[in-house]
Amino acid sequence: MSGRENDRPGNDRPDARPDELIEHGQVVLRRYRMDDLDAIVQTVTDSAAHLRPWMPWAADYTRESAEEFLAGSIQGWDEGTVFNYAITITTTDAGALAGGIGLMRRIGPGGLEIGYWVHRAYTRRGLATAASAALVEQAFRLPGVDRVEIVHDELNVASSGIPRKLGFTEVERRPIELPAPEGSGVGVVWRLTRPDPMPRCTVARAVS
Ligand SMILES: CC(C)(COP(=O)(O)OP(=O)(O)OC[C@H]1O[C@@H](n2cnc3c(N)ncnc32)[C@H](O)[C@@H]1OP(=O)(O)O)[C@@H](O)C(=O)NCCC(=O)NCCS
Repeated sequence: MSGRENDRPGNDRPDARPDELIEHGQVVLRRYRMDDLDAIVQTVTDSAAHLRPWMPWAADYTRESAEEFLAGSIQGWDEGTVFNYAITITTTDAGALAGGIGLMRRIGPGGLEIGYWVHRAYTRRGLATAASAALVEQAFRLPGVDRVEIVHDELNVASSGIPRKLGFTEVERRPIELPAPEGSGVGVVWRLTRPDPMPRCTVARAVS
């Protein structure tokens, strides 16, 4: 497929998917597979106290929760509704599961939402920012996608740093459907819109 076909907003090809393996700076994102089960149980368990305040799914996390999540991730990918990745790192502990990130089709036509978490031992190294930047690029390569959003509880200061660093704009505050245990229940919605392609005459001038 040519890049120009992909650039056409509204060209909703249901078979279009983001890459399954993405290298971006210090992170490698890899589509989840069923054999991530042990690693994901271990990582979430290790980080339980860090995740529970903000991720409702982290409460009472079990092996069955992880199995359900991985099966749902595989199915969601096949159906084109959710694209979940393991975050691994290239620098130290190469290949270790350092967190998770997903692109979700749940904010209406033309939009994809990003959600993320990072193992407590790997925070504050720019991983969530790098992984989100990688998925923003992927999202805007998909046909018909013209906006990416990140939503977090207004009290989740750590999470707000990622959209801010990536140039998202805060567009709305609204109640969160499934509130975080330590949140206020008010979600901050950040949005990044698809950059317009350069006008053809500008491109011609730029390369001449
Ligand atoms: C939120 C979370 C994913 C951030 O991951 P991370 O890889 O540490 O984030 P980054 O290193 O890319 O940080 C980007 C920016 O966010 C802000 N930030 C991150 N952690 C922060 C913290 N603990 N306190 C204040 N600001 C923080 C900073 O502005 C940071 O930039 P800086 O380090 O240059 O100052 C991680 O803390 C986490 O997993 N939290 C629990 C789960 C969660 O809240 N997920 C999001 C739900 S919406």
